Amino acid sequence: MNFSEFVDKLKECQRTGTQKVYLQQLLSENVGKRIIKDFIGFNWNWINRQKVINHWGPLSSNLLLVGMEGNITSVHYDEQQNFFAQVRGHKRCVLFSPDQFKSLYPFPVHHPHDRQSQVNLENLNLKKFPKAAELKGMHTILEPGDVLYIPVYWWHQIESLPKKGVTVSINFWYKVRNYLEESITYPLNTSQKIAIMRNIEKMITDALGDIEEVAPFMQTMVLGRYT
Ligand code: FUM
Ligand code: FE
Repeated sequence: MNFSEFVDKLKECQRTGTQKVYLQQLLSENVGKRIIKDFIGFNWNWINRQKVINHWGPLSSNLLLVGMEGNITSVHYDEQQNFFAQVRGHKRCVLFSPDQFKSLYPFPVHHPHDRQSQVNLENLNLKKFPKAAELKGMHTILEPGDVLYIPVYWWHQIESLPKKGVTVSINFWYKVRNYLEESITYPLNTSQKIAIMRNIEKMITDALGDIEEVAPFMQTMVLGRYT
């Protein structure tokens, strides 16, 4: 649907309260002149300086998010560095460090919900996911003008606050630097271990073929051995 159809749909959903909609659109030259004008006006000097200081790879994409109050993006991690810029409305962001990997019970790498946690933070099931009781997170409320750095592999759940109106945010995703270009030093950091775990899980599942058969075993082996 185009943007004005989305706005009509959003208004209808606000009126009826029966459904929630969430626009997530990669920014490209096709998104319309007015957004491109805003895009060019971002403080690129500041953003590019951060990229250099932090030794990130190149900017890979920007995602525009337009959400309704109460929308929740459930807990997951991304494989890129993220500057999360809040433009309008308020969002609550809950963060967990990568070394809480086990307590968040990620879906297997080949699962459609790869990079997402099986744990529902809104309704903890400690029988099924007992380690979730050990989780220690941080949270913050983002206001218009705030930019939150969400480091690669950090778990995050993001909620558009109820009763605070429509939210608009923009993600600035940067590739991680290429670790293979540097000499490896030990001990490996958690991000490196997670990258290795993901690759091993992919390789073994590809080699063995039957994902359903292998996935539960992979989780145990990979998590048990490398975290
Ligand atoms: O809903 C959100 O704002 C999610 C953003 C993200 O996961 O980067
Ligand atoms: Fe994310």
